[in-house]
Amino acid sequence: MTLFEGKNGRFQSLLQAVDNSDISSIKSVVSGIVRIINDPRSTVKELKELIEKDPPLTARLLRIANSAFYSLQRKVSEIEQAIVLIGFDELKELALNQKVCELFAKGDRVEGYSRPLLWKHSVAVALLSKMIYRKEFGLKGDNMYAAGLLHDLGIVVEDQFLRLQFADIMKTVREGGRNLADAETSVLGFHHAEVCGALLDHWNFPGEFVFSIAFHHSGFEQPQDFTSMVLTLYVANHVCQKHGIGYSDTPLRDDEAYRRCLNTLGINETSVVVITVDLKKEMARVESRGLF
Ligand SMILES: [Fe+2]
Ligand SMILES: [Fe+2]
Repeated sequence: MTLFEGKNGRFQSLLQAVDNSDISSIKSVVSGIVRIINDPRSTVKELKELIEKDPPLTARLLRIANSAFYSLQRKVSEIEQAIVLIGFDELKELALNQKVCELFAKGDRVEGYSRPLLWKHSVAVALLSKMIYRKEFGLKGDNMYAAGLLHDLGIVVEDQFLRLQFADIMKTVREGGRNLADAETSVLGFHHAEVCGALLDHWNFPGEFVFSIAFHHSGFEQPQDFTSMVLTLYVANHVCQKHGIGYSDTPLRDDEAYRRCLNTLGINETSVVVITVDLKKEMARVESRGLF
């Protein structure tokens, strides 16, 4: 893919640094779940085998299944049983949540940013993107959910490997009232959306993931035809920022671009207001389950 060619040396070294770090530990499970989501012939057995390759993840999912189904006579001790009890689609989502959230658990607070706050934002964008796909397009939206969870992973990469520059950038965003992507581009020559897009490209994720994430701050510039996924991610990101759910990387929101995205998608602004009410209820539900 030529999308990220011509990026500077620091961009390329950043991707190499990720390859040798804990961030790449999510690659196998997350790309495996994305493959299962996109293969209509995928089976319970494949999901079971994928999860069981990761013993800590298996243990966490069994613990969740046991606390959700505490009234059962016998304990849930096999992932296959958990899939039957929780459901195939729900368990895919739960496994994604549990795996991706490993990267957001710790880390310093820098200006108004912290990984747990970014995780809350990421879950909200994932849920809202999926709800928009379900309610507006009648689609399952599993890819949208996964893309939402991952879309700001580039920020984690920068906070881990470019600590000094990252602190300066965050200060500029906070004091100068700039959007994160603009501040990153001035200092680094690239921004977090491009970092995450390139990383997923490097991990061989489907093109729609690479493009929707790389262009989640500039939906109309995307050069290929993944319009609905790209613009839905833009819309979900915008709404979550507007409602102050979790970390905000766009203090200066572009309402005109937001409405242009809705027009192109054929979505009425009032529908998004209604879906956002449901999002807040769903966020309260997942929060009560201790997801963040
Ligand atoms: Fe972002
Ligand atoms: Fe975001």
